Amino acid sequence: MRHHLIVLVSKFPPSSRMHLQQPWRPSTRDFFNYNRLVMLNRLGDPWIPGLQVFALGKERLLGVENTILVTGGAGFIGSNFILGWMEREDGRVVNLDKLTYAGNPRNLQRVFSNPRYTFVKGDIGDRKLVAESLLTHKPRAVLHFAAESHVDRSILGPDDFVRTNVHGTFSLLEEARAYWLKLNASDQESFRFLQVSTDEVYGSLGAHDSAFTELTAYAPNSPYSASKAAADHLVRAYHHTYQLPTLTTNCSNNYGPFQFPEKLIPLMILNARSGKPLPIYGDGKNLRDWLYVGDHCEALRTVLAGGQPGSTYNVGGWNEKTNLEIVETICSLLDEFCPKDPVVPHRNLINFVTDRPGHDRRYAIDARKIERDLQWHPRETFESGIRKTIFWCLENDEWTKEVTSGAYRQWMETQYAARDTRARAI
Ligand code: NAD
Ligand code: DAU
Repeated sequence: MRHHLIVLVSKFPPSSRMHLQQPWRPSTRDFFNYNRLVMLNRLGDPWIPGLQVFALGKERLLGVENTILVTGGAGFIGSNFILGWMEREDGRVVNLDKLTYAGNPRNLQRVFSNPRYTFVKGDIGDRKLVAESLLTHKPRAVLHFAAESHVDRSILGPDDFVRTNVHGTFSLLEEARAYWLKLNASDQESFRFLQVSTDEVYGSLGAHDSAFTELTAYAPNSPYSASKAAADHLVRAYHHTYQLPTLTTNCSNNYGPFQFPEKLIPLMILNARSGKPLPIYGDGKNLRDWLYVGDHCEALRTVLAGGQPGSTYNVGGWNEKTNLEIVETICSLLDEFCPKDPVVPHRNLINFVTDRPGHDRRYAIDARKIERDLQWHPRETFESGIRKTIFWCLENDEWTKEVTSGAYRQWMETQYAARDTRARAI
């Protein structure tokens, strides 16, 4: 890799106020090592050969490498993204992850020993670590997945959500900006900061409302969605004020391999297989749009490659389903694949419980912008995606056992034991 070097040249010895290092003349080797030697005398005129050169604080303009920095890459979507990226793209991937309960390095076992993969354990709020990681690895893009992501946890304990999602994103933006300012002009232009966000920032839709577009006003309802909305606003401001080349995606509910079994789909598969109740909040008629995680990752690659800096893109699967429909589909498929499970038919396990406080009734995504401008379309239907997901769960029993040992039990206890299981669908 080559750097730019700015030096000041002068006929005269520099004054003591200037931090003189050594009288210095660029050698042939220096010309080789640096892309461009910018040499000015004190008046700003170009260097005249033969003059003595005083290197007064060599300022290196960084040249980026074909590396991306992913935050939160040991979580559900981040690990799917890294695995998919490394199969398709060249260049290195640096994964900065704190490894909270939701981060599992085992998700990335396939790439552990690949020299193109580097893992950095740490917090996005640790500015020194973030700054060092950026300067050491010189990424051409930051893909920001790291977050506290579970709505129920945000209701029981919002602190971590504000800390990571708001303050962590702010710290990351500040360090990304400082790094970006050190890049040379062409690398500055091609650099991207991609904020991976959610459709929940738009709030809840009524039964007959049109789907969320990129112009829908933000109206977050849970501490989780409020913290993501705050982060999105900071990203927007960093583009508007500092011209940092940002991109934001707002995606609907994902499902697929490596999803932590606190979220609806993997939780229902796990409980159904072991004959435990399937807790459905309220009347089970809340609507979500569901997207297979592989399609989301493809959308992110597409936006990174062709998205307009400063823009946001809604990403969705055109798959609106009620929670009850989702659970019934899972139950029917499990009846087919696992007829010897402890309770069959699995739907006998369905159990309506007290609703989630502030539960958003409906989300729906209008994904026409990304389809029209960037030619991205989801590949999976819900029917194909859910079959893949169930197969993955059946083949990866060990993964589930590992992530549900220890602290998981404590969470299930706190989250579900207090819910009134006598609640009934209306
Ligand atoms: P996840 O909870 O599975 O993973 C989050 C990852 O971030 C974990 O690996 C965790 O260790 C890491 N992390 C948490 N705090 C951190 C910190 N302070 N510093 C560094 N790493 C930290 O989440 P997910 O479901 O994979 O979601 C990833 C992103 O996508 C989130 O930003 C989320 O808001 C967004 N999103 C998720 C969905 C969805 O359906 N899951 C949909 C749309 C958008
Ligand atoms: O819309 C995108 C969002 O989708 C992401 O930003 C979030 O990170 C992700 O967690 C998800 O949020 P939801 O709250 O929609 O997902 P969850 O899987 O927790 O719940 C889906 C629906 O199922 C929701 O209406 C609540 C309901 N539910 C959930 C659980 C865990 C139940 O009925 N019972 C349950 O036990």
